[in-house]
Amino acid sequence: MTRRKLVAGNWKMNGSRATLHELDAIARAAAANPGIDVAVAIPATLIEPASARVPGLAIGAEDVHANASGAHTGCLSAAMVREAGARFTIVGHSERRSDQHETSQDAWGKAAAAHKEGLSVILCCGETEAERDAGRAERVVQAQIEKSVPDNADGAWFTLAYEPRWAIGTGRTPTHDEIGAIHAIARAKLRMLVGDAAAGIRILYGGSVTGANAAAILAIDNVDGALIGGASLTAEKFVPIIEAAGAM
Ligand code: 13P
Repeated sequence: MTRRKLVAGNWKMNGSRATLHELDAIARAAAANPGIDVAVAIPATLIEPASARVPGLAIGAEDVHANASGAHTGCLSAAMVREAGARFTIVGHSERRSDQHETSQDAWGKAAAAHKEGLSVILCCGETEAERDAGRAERVVQAQIEKSVPDNADGAWFTLAYEPRWAIGTGRTPTHDEIGAIHAIARAKLRMLVGDAAAGIRILYGGSVTGANAAAILAIDNVDGALIGGASLTAEKFVPIIEAAGAM
């Protein structure tokens, strides 16, 4: 089973209408590398202008609520971000797990709600530094996958992202062996949960990916792409990652 590489950006709480021009060159790089998929998750207020500006680029949300509507002040439903132009959403990002105390069960509900509305989903998992130091990284990730991946997940709409929390925004990355080990375990866990469909599900690595380390990380077995924070904010930093994936 060949899985197309996916290079996905996550702007987090960064960007404004004034920085949307960065997407122009990102969209051009995506079009110039038709063998891979490129996507950018951005703040909800920017989804509509970004989708209008670069209609060929997959623009997504960074989170959605698990419910379709209701009394949830400040939250956005999957239908709302889809109406604004989102084609996908991230769910279960570690910053939402830490800042908003979201659980794997929450991520499950959000993934299911997004899928129901026709959005693709990038669901995040990953251990803390303390968990890795205690030798528990593999068990933590397995448990997160078990609790958060919907049993109808398949590669047509669902992507998993392994993002060790201690590698996010720190400039530190696991060794290639450590990344390969977790991705292999994640693939095996997906197989237990969704059977043969697991072979079609992309597993991204995220955490301090840059133009300098992307090619080596993307070459690791079972690494089907990358989820990129800081280096997705400008075309200057993001385009080399797209090109590294496109050259594989
Ligand atoms: P950095 O690329 O800034 O480490 O962020 C990774 C991340 O959290 C993407 O979702």
